[in-house]
Amino acid sequence: MRVLGIETSCDETAAAVLEDGRRILSSVVFSQTIHADFGGVVPEYASREHTGAIVPVVDSALREASISYDGVDAIAVTNRPGLVGCLLVGVSFAKALAYSLGVPIVGVDHIEGHIFAVRLADPAVTLPAVCLVVSGGHTEIIAIEEWGRYETLGRTRDDAAGEAFDKVGKLLGLSYPAGPEIEKLAVGGDAWSYDFPRAMMERGNLDMSFSGLKTAVRYKVEDLGGVPSGKALADFLASFQEAIVDALVTKTLWAAEERAVPTVCLGGGVAANGALRQRLTEEAEARGFGVVVPPKSLCTDNGAVIAAVGQSLIDAGRVDDLTLSVSASREAARAGRHVS
Ligand code: KG4
Ligand code: ZN
Repeated sequence: MRVLGIETSCDETAAAVLEDGRRILSSVVFSQTIHADFGGVVPEYASREHTGAIVPVVDSALREASISYDGVDAIAVTNRPGLVGCLLVGVSFAKALAYSLGVPIVGVDHIEGHIFAVRLADPAVTLPAVCLVVSGGHTEIIAIEEWGRYETLGRTRDDAAGEAFDKVGKLLGLSYPAGPEIEKLAVGGDAWSYDFPRAMMERGNLDMSFSGLKTAVRYKVEDLGGVPSGKALADFLASFQEAIVDALVTKTLWAAEERAVPTVCLGGGVAANGALRQRLTEEAEARGFGVVVPPKSLCTDNGAVIAAVGQSLIDAGRVDDLTLSVSASREAARAGRHVS
């Protein structure tokens, strides 16, 4: 069975073809660049970009998979959480296509998509697991009891980790998204040269906070009389990155120890960060956990993970129909309330 996965919840227009829930036949991602100078995603621009990109992106995904539209057996589409205008582009397109092809449609939770990167990376992963999901909009420590059954153990009380990278990048004059650029600029920097705060570090507390860190960065820049440059900038950013990675890894391992799970894993756009991947892997392995860190291309937004969740929902008989709507939040979707 071939599932076409479609993702338009934020600033990536993405489509992929997944065969039998495992084999990625194609994955095409169009990352919008229109937001570069704004320090964050401008929702109205994002929906317009999706409208222009959706047909070429899906066409390319089918071409790369060497199939025609008739070769699509089902369509999975992100319908929550995300920017409503963006979600509507993907969902409306998916509905029209499902109707014209006469195939089932299934709405997918974007966060579950990030979790499924782990399953695509290692279908035989031992559950239960503790999964750190870190993206531009979410930072959660989630227990995967089994595929489809999750419990959130901790979350950020304010900014998401990716948001902290992006907001600090904006402050330093970097373009959006700033996470990858900060990682590059931090290479060779001394992560212990600046003492940035780690919030809520009492043992047992699995919630996180990154807004204080952002403020500390702003005050430090003022103290220094401006944004540092050269090696000093590398030191500065390596220290900032370390503060985020430290809090994320420490709390994820606390959660894994409390739950006594065999496996620790990682997902979401910030999981593309090399320092986070390395530190989580090293510390989890040192404590005897199995570790799954999916390839970067499966961590940042993509259609393959959406198709993978879609396949599992189809297997469970949980398909939707053409009344499928969208929801800005996960909570609203759970309560059956739709925002449109
Ligand atoms: O999951 P994602 O692609 O989209 C959302 O669901 O939000 O995550 C995007 C976020 C952005 O905040 C971006 O700055 C961050 O992930 N990000 C990174 C890196 N690559 C992407 N943050 C730190 N280091 C990276 N290499
Ligand atoms: Zn995402």
